[in-house]
Amino acid sequence: MVLRHFLDTQDFSKQELLDMIELSRMIKAADKQGCTPPLLAGASLAMIFEEPSTRTRVSFEVAMTELGGHALYLKPGEIHLGVRESLHDTAKVLSRMSDVIMARTLKHETMTGLAKDAEVPVINGLTDYNHPTQVVCDVMTMIEHMPAGKKLEDLHVTFIGDATNVLSSEMLICTKLGMHFTHAAPKKYQAPAEWVSWAQANCAESGGTLTITDDPVAAVKQADFIYTDLWWWVGQEDEIPERRAAFMPDFQVSSKLFSQAPAHAKFMHCLPASRGVEATDEVMDHPRSIIFDQAENRLHTEKGLLVYFVYPRLQHPSEALKAFHQGKIEAFLNQPQTGLFK
Ligand code: CP
Repeated sequence: MVLRHFLDTQDFSKQELLDMIELSRMIKAADKQGCTPPLLAGASLAMIFEEPSTRTRVSFEVAMTELGGHALYLKPGEIHLGVRESLHDTAKVLSRMSDVIMARTLKHETMTGLAKDAEVPVINGLTDYNHPTQVVCDVMTMIEHMPAGKKLEDLHVTFIGDATNVLSSEMLICTKLGMHFTHAAPKKYQAPAEWVSWAQANCAESGGTLTITDDPVAAVKQADFIYTDLWWWVGQEDEIPERRAAFMPDFQVSSKLFSQAPAHAKFMHCLPASRGVEATDEVMDHPRSIIFDQAENRLHTEKGLLVYFVYPRLQHPSEALKAFHQGKIEAFLNQPQTGLFK
């Protein structure tokens, strides 16, 4: 079986991404009726984190448990990861002991280095470049909140704010799926040319469109979904005054900016948020804010992704084969000469 990692939505076709979302929706529907099938019974997930996490950590662990498997939380500093042991050796060892690896790494090169030598699927739980599991969740959430009469290819998604790792993945998945994507930010904080060229190539194939602008009001005029993310992250503390001055007030998703969008437009944020910075409390808690539906969908889409990548690789022994091996081992243990029960 071909080993595939989930490092970047760019590595997958439109149909494959839609299959991941459809699978997630089927598993969510089963979950809502209290019958999540134990599709990953006995499987183990190694979760490596170089940074803190709430949603990614909890959703992957709960997903594995509810699918009948098990997740190990390897917190920052917990294991050798390129320090005292090569990435190659870590990847090989974890591959012998678990069925899938999910990692959140500071550098994208660490993620690709792990995947290069891993013998089980590696799922990218965020790097400095991208956040693919987040955006599979986001598109599923958009489908659930699709405006009446529209289909996926009709949707206009506007991302207001810094060119973060979430922006890169959002821009790439939306253009890959044939949607209409706009990024609004001050010129200095717009998406780098390389990301734009990849998104434009996606549009050429999918029929989607890409707009980059420094006019936030124009950017929301047709938006079905308005999305934002943090304006600064850990390690950018020195830049806070400059970044705040560049984005505030025009690029803050406030009631005033939200009111410029169509009356059906929904607000999204990957969270964690700095309330009162990139978005106001009024918008975060607005009746058309779907941020907590979006957060919940991390759980359902992690299940979909885990099943998509892991289920086909698992052995599915018959009950008779399981009983045969259990009987053989128990017979050995019960032999008087083994001395185990003396
Ligand atoms: N959105 C997201 O990835 O959240 P965490 O950092 O809490 O995992």
